[in-house]
Amino acid sequence: MSDGAPDIAVIVVAAGSGARLGAGAPKAFALLAGRTILERALYSVSGMSRPAQLIVVVPGDRVRQAEAMCADVVATPVTVVSGGATRQSSVAAGLAVVADGIRIVLVHDAARALTPSGQFDRVIDAVERTGAGVVPGLSVTDTIKRVDASGAVVETVDRSALSAVQTPQGFLRDQLVAAYAVAIDDVTDDAALVAAIGHPVGVIDGDPLAFKITTAADLRKAEQELAEQELAEQELSGQPLAGQRLAAEGQAEQGGDRIGIGTDTHAFDPDAPLWLAGLYWPGEPGLAGHSDGDAVAHAITDALLSAAGLGDIGTVFGSDDPQFARAHGEVFLRETRRRVEAAGFRIGNVSVQLIGVRPRFSPRRAEAQKLLTGILGAPVALAATTTDGLGFTGRGEGIAAIATALLHGTP
Ligand code: CTP
Ligand code: MG
Repeated sequence: MSDGAPDIAVIVVAAGSGARLGAGAPKAFALLAGRTILERALYSVSGMSRPAQLIVVVPGDRVRQAEAMCADVVATPVTVVSGGATRQSSVAAGLAVVADGIRIVLVHDAARALTPSGQFDRVIDAVERTGAGVVPGLSVTDTIKRVDASGAVVETVDRSALSAVQTPQGFLRDQLVAAYAVAIDDVTDDAALVAAIGHPVGVIDGDPLAFKITTAADLRKAEQELAEQELAEQELSGQPLAGQRLAAEGQAEQGGDRIGIGTDTHAFDPDAPLWLAGLYWPGEPGLAGHSDGDAVAHAITDALLSAAGLGDIGTVFGSDDPQFARAHGEVFLRETRRRVEAAGFRIGNVSVQLIGVRPRFSPRRAEAQKLLTGILGAPVALAATTTDGLGFTGRGEGIAAIATALLHGTP
């Protein structure tokens, strides 16, 4: 546009409850590797190459909180509005505040938090090129059966004719507004509404990273993906990345090296899933605790905080803060790393010993070390031992972990 104002708007819908994730907070406000899903989604939107009006739709009681998050993450002003009871009504709420002069509107699920920024650019390019609606999609690899109400297979569907669609979905503004003006059925897909009033919609290649976080397993997959991305970036740059964009200002000039120690103990809870060393251990009895009971992650957290003189896990995270109910170890580790680096330290290495009779640790040692090394940006070594049948660990009542951490003061 001639006056330099954007002619593209992106509506990020984040007003769902996240019932299937069950995080105890609306899904977009659940933590993904120490940051909310909404913030993660905003990072990907803010990486778009074209300027855009950004509209974020959240539950009515989260508007203030979302405004603060947006201001923190996005350099340009963001319009935050409250959503409705369905995704469709939330999109309509966003559509109502699209600015004059906008020609193309993208609708994006916050729950697709790791969508590469390039996918936004490609959708916009395709809308401009074709003048039609555009959705990113992936070919379907599973064999799909149509079944009847009794569960009996009716037929095998030809998967070459199927596409699993993602967001952002892009449309000419006028077409999307017209589609929403007459929408009656509640659909979870904007393209269906636009197609229903007779406008063409095309599919372009999506990206596996744009998967939707729906369940706890999806959240875990996203956490692991972020850890791997960070490790890859470190390998490229040859030095730890501090998540600098997020880090608070350094609190103190520290010189020299510092070491810290941390221990943690949890009793087994056979009804809980086992999370240990950042990994999920299917079929193993879990650990009791307010969070997920990951004694390895908690011992490391204490060792790092202690080395930096920043207190301990209870004082920093609150041992009964509802925000951390069933939180995974990675949440504590990422935030601890952020604090340690903000205080002027770089993590040198971490060494942990796990004490207990189960799970058998060695088969997954390398996997756990890789994950934790990625999260902390420094080598993490893990060892495990038993106690000759002695004590609570020997009797199989629980496990303990001892960690040491070395920090280097930044010169
Ligand atoms: N959404 C929304 N308003 C709603 C329902 C959903 O803005 N009333 C948004 C969600 O926040 C999410 C996207 O639409 O970013 C896709 O919806 P879904 O993955 O189903 O999220 P939820 O509805 O929150 O999850 P669930 O269905 O498990 O409750
Ligand atoms: Mg839903």
